[in-house]
Amino acid sequence: NNNNIQAKLVFLGDMGTGKTSLVLRFVRGQFFDFQESTIGAAFFTQILSLNEATVKFDIWDTAGQERYHSLAPMYYRGAAAAVIVYDITSMDSFVRAQKWIEELQRQGNPKLVMVLVANKADLERKVKSEDAEQYAQENGLLFIETSAKSAQNVNELFYEIAKRLVKA
Ligand code: GTP
Repeated sequence: NNNNIQAKLVFLGDMGTGKTSLVLRFVRGQFFDFQESTIGAAFFTQILSLNEATVKFDIWDTAGQERYHSLAPMYYRGAAAAVIVYDITSMDSFVRAQKWIEELQRQGNPKLVMVLVANKADLERKVKSEDAEQYAQENGLLFIETSAKSAQNVNELFYEIAKRLVKA
């Protein structure tokens, strides 16, 4: 049954969008104003208990720098869920997120649960929520606005993914 599951979760998105910060907020309750850029990828685990189930997340936090792009398939292969992060202050990062989603639609696990995350919600936005929400809806993705800095919606992000995976 699905009461205790282990799930591979991959974070993708442009450099500096806050992938590591979101994972560290969730796993350790920490945030750093000067978070170092990830090299290659970093691995974390965290267990989340729902009422009726326990999900153990194996989290791959990938590096957003373009030179690491070719490594990404190693990390999204076999993933149950993918979190594609953009920074609401950067239109470029939103465009980059859409490229990741197209790649996952072409080459990812067909049952992959995908979440589009609009991070840095504590800052002044350049990307309209409506545009991202509409894009997410058209592509069958979950959409959530977060701030790793303030912790807004960070637990909710992982909780929503866990709920989807347990239902599947
Ligand atoms: P790469 O490893 O290069 O791909 O970057 P990343 O996506 O993992 O971003 P990272 O978590 O390293 O964060 C980049 C910068 O943005 C850091 O200086 C963080 O402190 C900052 N940052 C991350 N999340 C937030 C947020 O929600 N709000 C604000 N204001 N800053 C954030």
